[in-house]
Amino acid sequence: MKITVFDDHQALSFQVAQMMVAQIKNKPDSVICLASGETPFLAYHLLPTLLLDEGVDHQQFTLIGLDEWVNIPSQNTGSCSYFLHTTLIGPLKLSLSQFKLFDGMAPDLQTECDSMDEFISKRGGIDLMVVGIGMNGHIGFNEPGVSTELYAHVIDLDDTTQTVGQKYFADKTTLGQGITLGLKHLQEANAAILMASGDRKAHIMKATLEGPIDPLIPSTIIRNHPNGLVMLDQKAASLLTPNE
Ligand code: PGA
Repeated sequence: MKITVFDDHQALSFQVAQMMVAQIKNKPDSVICLASGETPFLAYHLLPTLLLDEGVDHQQFTLIGLDEWVNIPSQNTGSCSYFLHTTLIGPLKLSLSQFKLFDGMAPDLQTECDSMDEFISKRGGIDLMVVGIGMNGHIGFNEPGVSTELYAHVIDLDDTTQTVGQKYFADKTTLGQGITLGLKHLQEANAAILMASGDRKAHIMKATLEGPIDPLIPSTIIRNHPNGLVMLDQKAASLLTPNE
């Protein structure tokens, strides 16, 4: 695992966007799994222009949505699906066969999980994952204490996730469960970028990088990833012990 600290959110986002461009350029049929949330928003916003500037063909890569709120329709502006449609799928004009997102309204959520696992394995696994980190150390909806051996699954959301998650929604919303790729997907991805930005992530980043590797802080698993990159801005890095 490698850690890189950037001056600010803008510099961090630009670098992540460039790494996504490089991934698609080097392997046009890449399978890329992307988180939703405030943290990666700017990187995704920058991506279409960078791809265009570099003349990179982006009609062959596959986008996988990392997670979704259960019982929230994709038309809800707080859904992960809505976020990925408005930031990337729409602007990049991705074809229907080029992306797969969880449907949080699916009548059979286990079938939804199986279908996602099968979709990924049929394409040879994930080349690159770009994930954020929750205040409780979750990655996707891999909440504290979750097994590191799971692929896609449905999970009861931790209190912190239910509370913090309100920020994405226009009205107060009941957030009971999530459907998510598992930590097994993260471990098996060829490369994984964990992004963190802002003061509010400083405590969890210190625990993630300097505490014990602990299932109660799922993000600590990134430290075992041979191609894990932790990319954070100065604010999120502000509590890290400085290098000697
Ligand atoms: P955020 O969410 O990017 O909106 O902070 C991160 C997360 O909960 O994974």
